[in-house]
Amino acid sequence: EKGGWPSFMAKEIAEEPDAVANTLRGRIQDGAAVIPELSDLDELLTGIDRITIIACGTASYAGQVGAYAIEKWARIPVEVELSHEFRYRDPVITPSTLVVSISQSGETMDTLMAVKYAKDAGAKTLSICNTQGATIPRESDGAVYTHAGPEVAVASTKAFVAQITALYLFGLHLARLRGTLTSAQQAANLDELADIPGKLERVLESSDSVAQLARWMSDTRAVLFLGRHVGFPIALEGALKLKELAYIHAEGFAAGELKHGPIALIEAGQPVFVVVPSPRGSDEMHKKVVSNIQEIRARGARVLAIAEEGDAAVLPFADEVVRIPLAAPLFEPLLAVIPLQVFAMELAAAKGLDVDQPRNLAKSVTVE
Ligand code: BG6
Repeated sequence: EKGGWPSFMAKEIAEEPDAVANTLRGRIQDGAAVIPELSDLDELLTGIDRITIIACGTASYAGQVGAYAIEKWARIPVEVELSHEFRYRDPVITPSTLVVSISQSGETMDTLMAVKYAKDAGAKTLSICNTQGATIPRESDGAVYTHAGPEVAVASTKAFVAQITALYLFGLHLARLRGTLTSAQQAANLDELADIPGKLERVLESSDSVAQLARWMSDTRAVLFLGRHVGFPIALEGALKLKELAYIHAEGFAAGELKHGPIALIEAGQPVFVVVPSPRGSDEMHKKVVSNIQEIRARGARVLAIAEEGDAAVLPFADEVVRIPLAAPLFEPLLAVIPLQVFAMELAAAKGLDVDQPRNLAKSVTVE
């Protein structure tokens, strides 16, 4: 079933371009995002004034990425919370709150219980799910399926990029309904989205050099990950993958937070992955991340930068640069996450670990 791949995870990473393409299929019509499953919910979706995204693990990082785009495009406040935290803190829920759950399996008990809680409290509920007919979408007012195909490896990869894709489509669907983006803006963002599968193919071509890096680093004891804006949840996801698969202590930080604490961890030889935002988005943000790189380098960090093609500013300070193709800044997470997935998988493999079935973890956690 692995189709010649050494693991399901390797196979599923290779399937990421298809996961995105299949999730987009039939949902772009004349330059607008139209999600047919939501056609009965126009009134509900124009009436909401707040969105809370709930999820666990990797799905929660997809939610964090999606929140930036939905808020920017649909001009609606979006918060993201872990399902188990949401449910036990007496959150403010009104009939105009939309609770969007994200779950690959659609069976995660923490998320299911949070959805039921939100429904009982009067919220509207929407499920983003990869498993047709699973419990969470059945419990929800609406469902948008990701079409990543079955994901077997415990660590989520292709479902993650499909979840971000579905959230972006949903953000553009909302922007159309609510009139917050012009037709030209909607079409431009959808063009970016449609270009992602091809760009993912190109990112996958650099997997060998990332694998090489992982093999060199197989006795590393701790790795830090820095990112800013949409790169921040990618840093968190990179760290989660390394913990899950390679049992290495890993932490993700918002790059701006570095000087407020984490910089104290930097000592000679400490590997730090930095997700560098495009200079074509916010030049200021790019400069700030480059200066973070200089600060940690001056303290001896080994800097592993993930930066877009042509970004020369990182070259003098980075020990390794993994290149990703140019994309509009909001779309970079879809590309930048791949090298981090590959890195964690290859490092685990180099340590002789079971990549598909890490110790103590289950694909779908059906207890609270
Ligand atoms: C965890 C899995 O237990 O559940 C993660 O190990 C996953 O990979 C998380 O991200 C959430 O699962 P689901 O099915 O709700 O997306």
